[in-house]
Amino acid sequence: MSKRFYPILSILLAIASSLPLAAQTKSVDTEGHKWWQHAVFYEIYPRSFADSNNDGIGDLKGITSKMAYLHDLGVDAIWISPCFPSPQVDFGYDVSDYENIDPMYGTLADFEGMVAEGKTHGVRIILDFVVNHSSDQHQWFVDSKSSRSAQHRDWYIWRDGKGPGQPPNNWISTFGGSAWKLDPATNQYYYHYFYAEQPDLNWRNPAVEKAMLDTTRWWYKRGVSGFRLDAVDTLFEDPRLPDNPVLPGTNKQGDPNTDEIHNKKLPEVHDVLKKLRKVADESDAVLIGETWTSNIDELKEYYGSHDNELQMPMDFMFTTVDKLSPPEFRRQIAQVDAAGGWPVFVISNHDKVRSYNRYGDGKNNDAIAKLMGAFYLTLRGTPIMYYGEELGMENNDPKRKEDVKDPIGRTGWPQEVGRDGERTPMQWNTDTNAGFSQKDPWLPVPPSSKSHNAATESKDPNSVLNMYKKVLALRHTNEALVEGSYTALNEDDTNVMSYLRSYKGKAVLVALNMSASPSKATFNLADKGFASANLKSLVATPQSSAKGMEVTLEPFGVFIAEVSK
Ligand code: NOJ
Ligand code: CA
Repeated sequence: MSKRFYPILSILLAIASSLPLAAQTKSVDTEGHKWWQHAVFYEIYPRSFADSNNDGIGDLKGITSKMAYLHDLGVDAIWISPCFPSPQVDFGYDVSDYENIDPMYGTLADFEGMVAEGKTHGVRIILDFVVNHSSDQHQWFVDSKSSRSAQHRDWYIWRDGKGPGQPPNNWISTFGGSAWKLDPATNQYYYHYFYAEQPDLNWRNPAVEKAMLDTTRWWYKRGVSGFRLDAVDTLFEDPRLPDNPVLPGTNKQGDPNTDEIHNKKLPEVHDVLKKLRKVADESDAVLIGETWTSNIDELKEYYGSHDNELQMPMDFMFTTVDKLSPPEFRRQIAQVDAAGGWPVFVISNHDKVRSYNRYGDGKNNDAIAKLMGAFYLTLRGTPIMYYGEELGMENNDPKRKEDVKDPIGRTGWPQEVGRDGERTPMQWNTDTNAGFSQKDPWLPVPPSSKSHNAATESKDPNSVLNMYKKVLALRHTNEALVEGSYTALNEDDTNVMSYLRSYKGKAVLVALNMSASPSKATFNLADKGFASANLKSLVATPQSSAKGMEVTLEPFGVFIAEVSK
């Protein structure tokens, strides 16, 4: 992205990158920002993006073939959900070899090809590092389970039961049932926060730490620009194993609710993040965290007290504003801004119902999808998109239990339908299976793929795709949108969300009608340094415009304008 931004700077950076590592300049602008602060990230669920060999499952060559699409869209880095060898119990989040590619996705040579093609198109590769647990088929666990004295026994968390048939404590697996599984051969229980096929690694063992840090080095050498760290909250458990307090009620799997104070967000997590960061810094790489924080203080901690942990902890609190509420969005953005770190905005991913459905009202979903894109892609911070979001892809949930692929959907049905709905194949065109594969894909595409697909939408100037493209193009060329400060405007307005992004005397005003009625908003920017300002439209929905400082917005309308003095 910096290339599009500052041509001279990018020439200097190209010279710098040919120098030895220590001499490299790591900032990409005069503000001291790093490449990942300028970049737009995009999550790819590899099973579902593009299928190059028509076996119904996406693969790396498929991703490679779409680099031009990603670049044209305005994507600078792709985070690929786990593509390592795996029994696929949790669709790749159960890794049986951290340093290879699953044959269903291709080979290490295909990986190299993807990195090279990415470089050609200015798209960096971020891998998903499953740090908390491995697969039970990983050689480490196979050995660990083989006997109490095995070399890798202490690489996982083994304990005696409390008594016959009783697990060591009351900890619950987030995927259902006790978090402990008895191994009859050695008569001990092992701990698994997720499925039983995903035993937790013992990060208190220095050998585990070393192996995992070395794994990141191994991938950095192969051209990876960073990692998204899976489930960092659950890296450590209290070794004394106290029971968690039981709360009223049950969860979607029918288990008692508990307050997971003894097996989540332990302070030791931060020591590990610092070590991972140190290694990442050697390669100018970024660490993105799957951080389910419940308040800003927790989020703040994940950046590290000296910017020495995660550069990009994901702010999922933003997604909990699950409705079009300007006051709540304002509150959330103000808090994140005040936290001092660089904000990271996400509106959907492979574990959450798609934003198209979560924010949509069932009638105006396309307009709302454009509005949400125009919103979070113009905030101060780095956005992480989810594949197909730019098309207005909708959830396609299974209708019958027997069709469910995600195990939590089978055990939790019908309360918990699982995550298949948000993981369906990318919708490329109007061909069979939306152009994803000639063979029936592992999950079905919805009927709406006939209208919501990349080919059809690219021809329609008012499509969701073209709104995303316009906003992303603006983001790549307008300094105020990347470098600028964020100032909330008209804070009492409950319908129109508006803000100013300003940088070095230049500003962009964003006005978004979050209501189903036409709305007007008038702005006075005198105290922001624009005494007699004018608004020049940059990106807007067809019926939204400005007269002087008064903006008229159609229902769910978008108006993004340059403020001129
Ligand atoms: C979080 C991932 O996003 C999710 O898909 C997975 O099931 C769990 N971590 C376990 O790895
Ligand atoms: Ca395939």
